[in-house]
Amino acid sequence: MTNTKPSVVSLNKADTLQTTKAVLNQSVADLSKAHSILHQIHWYMRGQGFLVYHPRMDDYMEELDGYLDELSERLITLGGAPYSTLKEFDEASKLVEVKGDFTLSMTDQLTRVVDVFRYLADHFQVALDVTDKEGDDVTNDIYVGAKASLEKHIWMLQAELGNAPKL
Ligand SMILES: [Fe+2]
Repeated sequence: MTNTKPSVVSLNKADTLQTTKAVLNQSVADLSKAHSILHQIHWYMRGQGFLVYHPRMDDYMEELDGYLDELSERLITLGGAPYSTLKEFDEASKLVEVKGDFTLSMTDQLTRVVDVFRYLADHFQVALDVTDKEGDDVTNDIYVGAKASLEKHIWMLQAELGNAPKL
């Protein structure tokens, strides 16, 4: 007779990851709202460097969208249900949106990008702590890569603005 029973430690593991699932859904809301903010910056920026920074926002949005899809699908894999409406994203995320403003300087706009990335990096650290505590190495691994990349972007943007990274 073959042993087809799951091991005791893996039994219903997904059911035990309640905080991991909550933090994953927080990421879904935050990354969706961050995309919206970056899109506004992409559209409303004016000034020296536009030809570089405008397409750079596309790169950032593409990267965040990759995390969004990966984390959403990880949440579904664990038996969760990701937020999927603009209303849910807005209610769940603490990122602050403002009306588009063409008069903001390029420095102001790049500083907004740094602020968004800092918010996400801080949130990712919470996610790392939660997934570490609950033992979900797979989800933890996604956040390790995402946080490392955002911290590198913060360094580069801060360097462009003449500042130390101040992580
Ligand atoms: Fe565009």
